[in-house]
Amino acid sequence: MTLHPSLTIVDHPLVQHKLTLMRDEGASTATFRRLLREISLLLAYEVTRDLELRTTRIRTPMSEMEAPLLAGKKLALISILRAGNGLLDGILELVPSARVGFIGLYRDPETLRPVQYYDKVPGELGARIVIVVDPMLATGNSSAAAIDLLKEKGARDIRFLCLLAAPEGVRRMAEAHPDVPIYTAALDERLDEHGYIVPGLGDAGDRLFGTK
Ligand code: URA
Repeated sequence: MTLHPSLTIVDHPLVQHKLTLMRDEGASTATFRRLLREISLLLAYEVTRDLELRTTRIRTPMSEMEAPLLAGKKLALISILRAGNGLLDGILELVPSARVGFIGLYRDPETLRPVQYYDKVPGELGARIVIVVDPMLATGNSSAAAIDLLKEKGARDIRFLCLLAAPEGVRRMAEAHPDVPIYTAALDERLDEHGYIVPGLGDAGDRLFGTK
């Protein structure tokens, strides 16, 4: 049985190579941060693959031509604080005109349920392609809650981009938001009793920001 109606595992060799280097517990904060930025560029390539194009007439040094340009819906990138920011920066390099929003959720350590403490998102979400970024799709509870909030605010075309996913999180998203495609670099084995992905890479926020 499939876990989710639309789960894309980006198995490009460069993504897989960089992910292995990031998983290694010996990777420094600087290395981890650089690799996450690099992988985010490659993941962004996949999540934006179906953006609509229009053509425009230009003149090259050689001749005139009809050349493609992005058309249609504008992008909104929504980072789930704080680790989402590690994916955000690279994607913004590729699509610098995207609007950006932030949703802050923390996980109650007892219940593992998400508690929202912050949200600031762009207007007109219904007219945009909304890409939600969070490196770790673990229980899926925070991701599902963030997407609930975005739908309440009018978002309709939503995609979820992460680095690692656990089967539990993918299943939770399939229950709550089967209409939201998921893009990930890898689908790991399972969650441990604290809700961490195994084998995973530990706490993405701590590794990205050098906290503990
Ligand atoms: N969040 C993380 O940073 N790591 C996990 O393994 C799960 C959730």
